[in-house]
Amino acid sequence: MQKRLEELNAQFENAQPQEVLEYFLKEYKGKIALSSSFGAEDQALTHMMLSIDKEATIFTLDTGRLPYETYSVMDYTNLKYDIKVDVYFPNAQEVEALYKKQGINGFYESIDNRKACCYVRKIEPLKRALKGLDVWITGLRASQSITREAMKLVEYDEDNQVIKLNALLKWSEEDVWAFIKANNVPYNKLHDQGYPSIGCAPCTRAVKEGEDIRSGRWWWENPEHKECGLHAK
Ligand code: ADX
Ligand code: SF4
Repeated sequence: MQKRLEELNAQFENAQPQEVLEYFLKEYKGKIALSSSFGAEDQALTHMMLSIDKEATIFTLDTGRLPYETYSVMDYTNLKYDIKVDVYFPNAQEVEALYKKQGINGFYESIDNRKACCYVRKIEPLKRALKGLDVWITGLRASQSITREAMKLVEYDEDNQVIKLNALLKWSEEDVWAFIKANNVPYNKLHDQGYPSIGCAPCTRAVKEGEDIRSGRWWWENPEHKECGLHAK
């Protein structure tokens, strides 16, 4: 596997995301999906993927705590592209147990509580979503944070036993927005209100001009902890 990943990374070193997606969507048809949070990167990837293959699979993890605006862009995306993004909800009994243990907003109280919430609401549903797939496409970009700088275009996710394709890895924020504007891609309106990165409503806030783009996520924690476990521990 390691050798295959190295070959793919070398083959696509200077390729644009569309070229990479064309290859992977064909090679792994029926076994490949994009996980979308309906953020700018994922919306650009959705547009690219559906331009290549109208049947391409896109799924989202609906944590039950998403902002109203995220549901709006989800609805609009389904309408515009005539699709139905697959939705994975958390296990109801696990959410009930989590609530009993830490209350409704317990994630503000400790990193352990926050990780437990992310596990129930995102990680476990992600495991179900990835079952049986060979390739998981994400909208991660290297310049988003210190925790993402060392990522590769093609990686192997041991936990979920899938190839992870970070198709927009080398794009800048400007590249993403130029693509969105040029192609009239629908986007989350919170991006116009100072939210460069959008997750669950209680764990995301707007950032000031010049602030780090992920500083509005779990803003009460240190930058080294700011991953929910979907991508890094
Ligand atoms: S997070 O780990 O901090 O939440 P971020 O919001 O930067 O991640 O998104 C990075 C990538 O993770 C997205 O491009 C997407 O592939 C995936 N992702 C994040 N949140 C979700 C979600 N709720 N549903 C599906 N995919 C998601
Ligand atoms: Fe829970 Fe916040 Fe993680 Fe969403 S981001 S799953 S609300 S801790």
